[in-house]
Amino acid sequence: MYQISSKILYNKELSPGYYKIGLDCPDIASKAAPGQFIMIRVSNQLDPFLRRPFSIHMIHNSNAPHDEVDRNSRIDILYKVVGKGTEILSTAKEGGEIDIVGPMGNGFQIHEDMTTAIFIAGGVGVAPLLGLAEEILLKKKMTRSLVLFLGGKTRTDILCVKDFERLGAQIHISTEDGSLGRQGIVTDQFVDYLESQDNAPGSFSHCFACGPEAMLKEVAKITQKKEMPCQVSLETMMACGLGACLGCVVRSKSQTGSKEPGNDIISHKDESMIHHKKVCKDGPVFNSTEIIWE
Ligand code: FES
Repeated sequence: MYQISSKILYNKELSPGYYKIGLDCPDIASKAAPGQFIMIRVSNQLDPFLRRPFSIHMIHNSNAPHDEVDRNSRIDILYKVVGKGTEILSTAKEGGEIDIVGPMGNGFQIHEDMTTAIFIAGGVGVAPLLGLAEEILLKKKMTRSLVLFLGGKTRTDILCVKDFERLGAQIHISTEDGSLGRQGIVTDQFVDYLESQDNAPGSFSHCFACGPEAMLKEVAKITQKKEMPCQVSLETMMACGLGACLGCVVRSKSQTGSKEPGNDIISHKDESMIHHKKVCKDGPVFNSTEIIWE
């Protein structure tokens, strides 16, 4: 993990309220993995004082064949303006410097026998999934197809469509107001997709999801019913990001962090079976069956 002052390569608005910032940070880029995050100190002022966590959107290093620019040195962060910290970050200028720490957290596990990678994103939850999709294609042993489900309230919440098209993904979009794609919620579209699939012998789909907790909880339920492995990236408020403040704890059924799907149902009242995990240290990526969804 490094703490550095990183040069801002660009900071541009992709859609109303959504920005992508490019950070020149060779040390972090060379160590980072999809699903990890960095902490950014958005201002040198006392307020806001704490660094904020941002999942890594893209890692540009010498192993990334899809990268055409600046091969060795940068990471991209995709973020939504949701409060004072991100408001300040959105005004950061190209050429400026910003204090960052990373890479942090565990990142996604990629199973080599996976034949289909299914990504489910709610709004800016797509951020860590694009870098993951690229990594899966790089590792490609068995993966034959990428399928993406993107959901949002309205069309301006739908991001990264062209990036996933470039990777050859099959894309399903849903918006609650029907302004783009199918009208409704992304998990309904996911269920319909699963029901339309013939599970060919030897096929092995794996789901990766990031977005609002209600969406993740539903995805966890759907995939568990189908006995489909599913990893979720949790977006939780963090203070220290270092495992010290316990501000990001979630309840888990697993002491160690199982990597395989399980069917163990534990009552919320059975406290002796419950373990507390720190999203910043043990996550942010968890097996969906491990989390006790509230
Ligand atoms: Fe402090 Fe996770 S943010 S323990």
